[in-house]
Amino acid sequence: MQRQPLVIANWKMNGSRSLVEKMTVELREHDEVLDRISVVICPPAVLLPAWQDAVFYDHVHLGAQDISEHASGAHTGEHSLSLLTEAGVDYVLIGHSERRQYYGEDEERIRAKVQAALSFNEKPVTVVLCVGETASQRQQEQTYAVVEQQLQSALDGVSEQQSKQIVIAYEPVWAIGTGQTASPELAQQVHGFIRQWLTKKFRVSGSRMHILYGGSLKADNAEALFAEADIDGGLIGGASLDPEEFLAICSAAQ
Ligand code: G3P
Repeated sequence: MQRQPLVIANWKMNGSRSLVEKMTVELREHDEVLDRISVVICPPAVLLPAWQDAVFYDHVHLGAQDISEHASGAHTGEHSLSLLTEAGVDYVLIGHSERRQYYGEDEERIRAKVQAALSFNEKPVTVVLCVGETASQRQQEQTYAVVEQQLQSALDGVSEQQSKQIVIAYEPVWAIGTGQTASPELAQQVHGFIRQWLTKKFRVSGSRMHILYGGSLKADNAEALFAEADIDGGLIGGASLDPEEFLAICSAAQ
């Protein structure tokens, strides 16, 4: 099943207005790539207005790195879906390992955020659910059990219809920011496992859902990873802060 490649930039707590301008120039200069793939930029929320002016083409979207599960109210420092979509967001990362590891996000909260995004009725948003094992879980051969548990918990109660708004990002925690990229073969083993799980739970859309790889994906390893049957694109951290390298990754995805 051919799924249109999807490449997402996760700037994390990095970037600047000048980087937005540089990335905009790079994207405009390579707009032929944008006709064949979809690109999502997830800047820090404070940079969304700078991107909103710059976003162009049908294939460049804005994303949020996290959302509140609450619609509004006394949640200092949080960002609601309403405010994020007003700022141009239509993709939302949920369950990123850094949120799980450093900010205590547990399965219950991740499930609540998925439900909030899928039931948000002001504008349809696409949920990018991040899953992945730690180095010690892999060493203890728990990779598939961990990934399955994360999928089951976060997608509990999600309907076939709602699954069309779900993208899965497999990000082995031991590959994030370390330069230790998973080999294409190893990544495909887990992507294939995720694909099997998705097609079992979502009989119609499971084969159509995007499964992205994230974890030290760079311009020099992108092509080999994207050549794998169930790797439908990437979730890029560090390399997305370099406009030229990010566009090279996008070119490899087309
Ligand atoms: O969300 C993407 C991120 O976790 C991957 O980071 O720097 O390893 O590409 P990086």
